[in-house]
Amino acid sequence: MRFGTKLIHDGNGFEPGTGAINLPIFQTSTFHQKDPMVGQKYDYSRSGNPTRESFEKAIANLENGRFGFAFSSGMAATSSVLSIFSTGDHILVCEDVYGGTYRAVSTIFNRFGFEIELIDMTDPDLVRKKLRKNTRAIFMETPSNPLLKITNIREIVKIASERQILTIIDNTFLTPYYQRPLELGVDIVIHSATKFIGGHSDVVGGAVVVKDEGLSKRIYSIQNGMGSILGPQDSWLLLRGMRTLKVRLDFQENSVSQIVKFLENSDSVKKVYYPGLSDHPDREIHFSQSRGGGSVLSFEMSPDHKVETFLKSIQLGAVAVSLGGVETIVSYPAKMSHASMPPEKRKELGISDELIRISVGLEEPEDLIEDLENSFQKSKVG
Ligand SMILES: Cc1ncc(COP(=O)(O)O)c(C=O)c1O
Repeated sequence: MRFGTKLIHDGNGFEPGTGAINLPIFQTSTFHQKDPMVGQKYDYSRSGNPTRESFEKAIANLENGRFGFAFSSGMAATSSVLSIFSTGDHILVCEDVYGGTYRAVSTIFNRFGFEIELIDMTDPDLVRKKLRKNTRAIFMETPSNPLLKITNIREIVKIASERQILTIIDNTFLTPYYQRPLELGVDIVIHSATKFIGGHSDVVGGAVVVKDEGLSKRIYSIQNGMGSILGPQDSWLLLRGMRTLKVRLDFQENSVSQIVKFLENSDSVKKVYYPGLSDHPDREIHFSQSRGGGSVLSFEMSPDHKVETFLKSIQLGAVAVSLGGVETIVSYPAKMSHASMPPEKRKELGISDELIRISVGLEEPEDLIEDLENSFQKSKVG
């Protein structure tokens, strides 16, 4: 099955009892045990639930993995993956990782004796230099957030596999439609399914996919043992939302290319960040590992504009945290996704106070461009 067909049919067999073409929401915490002496597949919904399992199988198939796990949020997925490691383990993390991941590693996991080091992962030589005897994992996010920097996945996998180090990637921005890291040798894929997988800004969820059975057991033991599972209703919403992933992304990518052109030619914009740009420094690497540029872009406003007025003037896009919904979402990293990062660190990474991120939705691109232009005009100073 091709990707678009998998989206419609995976995890969505007809319900055997009634023939219903949608899987029921198994809204149950526990299951009657016909023979308590023998045990059965489902016994308690933290350990396994048919609706959740259906989503887990579907996301695993889309990533070309073998085992999927659904969590109550993207951060629950990330922290469950990090929980397979132990005190004293050294983990390299991409320095411009999602702000919440940054917060988790720098204020929570560090308290448990994890040696976590944030580095520029676009430089494989630096990654090699930073390896220690106790390095157990390399955590990537590409394109990164919010500057859309590119990490060379194959290079990092090569470095890691020489030393039997696990590789982890947050694949939220591109989804398996554009990028399938397991096919490039990555060990663990993480999603904030809240974003493109759900696609409708109506559910918070996370997912993890692996190929290796041993690794799947380690992740299952955290999922079941720590318990941050996704509920059946949210699993069902993700199953429904992901059916349209391909059509949404195809439409959005076409809109992005028009919006990027508009921004590049606008006097109100100093710089545009998007992996599909012809002059993106790592365009070649990006397209060697991904099939598209995605529908998230960032730009820096010219200094003769007031960011606050711009944000307040936006009419069509929701000015909000998050991305990947059917509606365009305009966000301000300095005060939203990266607010938990100290200002000096943001500055060091190039996340300026003029930086705006847009997740392009399903509105007509011409309307979005008009909205942006009106907001630029209103926010001009002097
Ligand atoms: C790239 C990325 N990873 C992880 C997360 C965390 O996901 P959640 O908000 O579902 O916990 C986010 C949320 O914005 C994200 O953008």
